[in-house]
Amino acid sequence: MTSVRKATQKDISLLSRKLMKLLEDKNSDVYQDNVAKFGIPEEYVRGVFAEKTLLKAIASGKARFYLAFEDNEIIGFAQTVKQDATTAELDRIIVFPEHERKGIGTQLLVQVVDDLKKEGVHVITVNAGKEETPARRFYEKNGFKLVKETTIQTPWGKELQLAIYKLQLILS
Ligand SMILES: CC(C)(COP(=O)(O)OP(=O)(O)OC[C@H]1O[C@@H](n2cnc3c(N)ncnc32)[C@H](O)[C@@H]1OP(=O)(O)O)[C@@H](O)C(=O)NCCC(=O)NCCS
Repeated sequence: MTSVRKATQKDISLLSRKLMKLLEDKNSDVYQDNVAKFGIPEEYVRGVFAEKTLLKAIASGKARFYLAFEDNEIIGFAQTVKQDATTAELDRIIVFPEHERKGIGTQLLVQVVDDLKKEGVHVITVNAGKEETPARRFYEKNGFKLVKETTIQTPWGKELQLAIYKLQLILS
């Protein structure tokens, strides 16, 4: 049975460890498709997933983490960041490889949407890599509409082509 809930501070250390573990196998699809393909330096990703970075995000009062569990194991997570009173960004959503395509990502998203709607958020935005077909299909299946495609300069000095989506929860 899968369950989804908001992460507490106590969960963050476990989540960070699980994420670091994903980085161990450089040949895995998850590493190749989400890190290697974009030329992201390993140190940068380790910084993003470090316990202290995740805790700092929570402490800011703007970020929130949702966890999906199966048999007390974390099998996926979503991170949201509140931009202002009516806008939030879905910063990342990851379902661990062996659990993909079983509706877990959708379950996480449903919880995110429910909570943000209750808080008066009107719009959720999300960025996907232009070539990230699985993520793009996932967002499109869940009602996100393409806003534009654009190119950004990444913090690690490479250009990245993005597809920017939004999900309108309440008409502004
Ligand atoms: C994208 C992701 C979060 C989707 O989670 P998931 O639990 O596998 O998705 P679901 O089972 O809820 O899928 C819902 C729908 O999304 C679409 N989808 C999901 N994975 C897909 C894939 N690999 N290829 C094409 N469409 C896909 C499908 O329309 C699917 O519906 P269907 O299975 O009835 O056809 C997950 O694949 C993932 O973690 N990928 C790696 C990390 C990533 O890219 N994250 C997003 C950017 S941070």
